[in-house]
Amino acid sequence: MKALICPLCALPLSENPQGLACSNRHQFDRAKEGYFNLLPVHYKNSREPGDARQQLIARREFLTAGYFLPLADALKKIISSDVGTLLDIGCGEGYFTRLLHEHCASADVYGLDISKAGIRLAAKHNKQSLAYVVASSHSLPLADASMDVITRIYAPSKDEELFRVLNPSGKLIIVTPGEQHLLALRQKIYQTIRPHPKPVEPQGFKSFRQDSVSFSVAVPSGDLAAALLAMTPFAWKLNPERLQLFINEGLVDTAHFQISVYEKSPYE
Ligand SMILES: C[S@@+](CC[C@H](N)C(=O)[O-])C[C@H]1O[C@@H](n2cnc3c(N)ncnc32)[C@H](O)[C@@H]1O
Ligand SMILES: [Zn+2]
Repeated sequence: MKALICPLCALPLSENPQGLACSNRHQFDRAKEGYFNLLPVHYKNSREPGDARQQLIARREFLTAGYFLPLADALKKIISSDVGTLLDIGCGEGYFTRLLHEHCASADVYGLDISKAGIRLAAKHNKQSLAYVVASSHSLPLADASMDVITRIYAPSKDEELFRVLNPSGKLIIVTPGEQHLLALRQKIYQTIRPHPKPVEPQGFKSFRQDSVSFSVAVPSGDLAAALLAMTPFAWKLNPERLQLFINEGLVDTAHFQISVYEKSPYE
């Protein structure tokens, strides 16, 4: 995993028996689950930044049941299976990272998230060519122009860092919720529905292609409905009685994602 750089001095990191180190002897030990914590303490705004374990477990339960598999399939159609390096920003518990790693059989794949709880869960599926790191998307511990593909599925990032890390002919793929995404659920929760904001072209990039994927999801009452609600940003608006009602009812809705593919703009 040659693309990792030191988060303190930006020199390349190389492996040693304990983990990774740069030539300035900054050492980052491998956690027992196999991941690396490359988030300097001064970058942490809170004690446990990123998504909480409970939320990530809900996400894992829902995603591994296969409800969003059509999104993974759409990504696989867009991403060439012979890329050499791929970074998944805000990978959470690693569902999509794992599927993309399977798809890009000969690639070095990096899953990055600011949530240690997420990376810890993700790293249980550690592989030789699949590295998970705790780091912030605002300061990526990756070498300049080192990535052929960057995916960002529902996560924040910083344009300058995306630009720095992507190689000149690489592709940046951003997944955002589409207009119809969980519309039935949102209609039950809100009196007026605000449309999801349209994806904004990151600075330094131009649009290469835009795809949208939509499919129905029928979630039975009980644990899976609870998991989906725990994943959504709107569930916390519900009082406990209404939340329980939704869990008991189950959910039939539409999943709708916008997949925006960008390449570096030669004019920037
Ligand atoms: C909605 S989750 C999506 C997770 C994953 N991409 C998926 O689709 O399953 C958003 C993720 O972004 C992470 N995140 C939030 N701020 C971040 C930052 N500054 N750097 C890296 N990851 C961040 C959260 O911890 C969370 O795991
Ligand atoms: Zn260093």
